[in-house]
Amino acid sequence: MSIKEKIDENKLPEHIAVIMDGNGRWAKGKGKFRIFGHQNGVRSVRDTAEACAELGVKYLTLYAFSTENWNRPKVEVMALMELLVSTIKKETPTLMKNNIKLSTIGNILDLPPKCIDELTSAIEETKNNTRMTLVLALSYSSKWDITEAVKKIALQVKNNTISVDQISDELIAANLSTAGMPNPELMIRTSGEHRISNFLLWELAYSEFYFTDKLWPDFTKDDLYHAIVAFQNRERRFGKTSEQIKGA
Ligand code: FPP
Repeated sequence: MSIKEKIDENKLPEHIAVIMDGNGRWAKGKGKFRIFGHQNGVRSVRDTAEACAELGVKYLTLYAFSTENWNRPKVEVMALMELLVSTIKKETPTLMKNNIKLSTIGNILDLPPKCIDELTSAIEETKNNTRMTLVLALSYSSKWDITEAVKKIALQVKNNTISVDQISDELIAANLSTAGMPNPELMIRTSGEHRISNFLLWELAYSEFYFTDKLWPDFTKDDLYHAIVAFQNRERRFGKTSEQIKGA
């Protein structure tokens, strides 16, 4: 039985989030510059998106560039931005062919104009696609997102649009850049690091975490299937007892 056949199609996560890590180490291990790792990471992006769409996962969120990544050497940042522009340009027809909608979270206005233009046109072109939404987290950090949400809510209180008592879990979620998306049930991080790194802090409150030592450019469809099978073997209790869950 292949690992793919072990997946229970009735227990698929609706939303998978991925911290794609290890591109730099992958390249270094091959005696190459870090950008070579990022370039090869695009193949894993494509495979993961394709596998998720084929399975019927509805949302895939990829941590492509964090707020903190701006602190990397300028040459790497520039190369990553160029890679982003060329990949989006090249892959938009594939997104169309596969009925995949592109979306972003993060402070997109921080990105170079060429990147903003390319993203805007790909988002516009794919906006009516329905099979899956591919969300790129770009210039994203969860603390930034939560801070922005707090500012928006504070303004509503100041303007008397809402009262303090109306601030709820749902209202906060509705003011995050992930508003309208289900929370990820599964978060995968590659490269052996066991950290959340300012990614979806609010949304991952009850997610299952899956860590693999594989470096991102080596991550394959089978690795994704392993993560989903592991997820399906977990007992998700949401604060309840095991007996309560089994009796439900
Ligand atoms: C982390 O590896 C990876 C990134 C910061 C960038 C990920 C970007 C891509 C896979 C390419 C383009 C993506 C899209 C969506 C088109 P790292 O550099 O932190 O690796 P290290 O920990 O080994 O140094």
